[in-house]
Amino acid sequence: MSASEWSSSSLVCRPNLLTGSLLTGVRSIDMQHSELFELIEAFESAHAAGDLATAVGTLLPHLEAYVIFHFSEEEQLMSSLVNEASHIQMHLAQHQSFKDSLQRICAGFNVKDDEVIVEELTALLRSWLTQHIATTDMSLGRKLLAQGSHKLWK
Ligand SMILES: [Fe+2]
Ligand SMILES: [Fe+2]
Repeated sequence: MSASEWSSSSLVCRPNLLTGSLLTGVRSIDMQHSELFELIEAFESAHAAGDLATAVGTLLPHLEAYVIFHFSEEEQLMSSLVNEASHIQMHLAQHQSFKDSLQRICAGFNVKDDEVIVEELTALLRSWLTQHIATTDMSLGRKLLAQGSHKLWK
């Protein structure tokens, strides 16, 4: 599935997957974060069950596409912010860095032991995403709410 096939209307909010410290207060962003953690769980479960075809062949491309979709949605929202150039620059750089890391790890599936790659991948996904949401996305959420920019969401 390509990133362009995702839409906010296709998402179901599962707030139980996020704790209070990871809720930005911007519903669209919180729904997407919830979906991201759900996809990570599905990937880990499929791999743990030995279903590599589903884990690597289906869920991983799905996850990559969803990460790109989610980042582009946040970037669209943050572009509406006024006088927040430094936040935008820092946030864009973090997204790009994560996309680069994800791409590098996923490319490694062809050349390294899957077990090692999966461990590296799930550690990156969980630690980076949790840290990024708890700091940078929470900051974005506060700025969007303060400026009323979250209402631009369709
Ligand atoms: Fe972000
Ligand atoms: Fe995010």
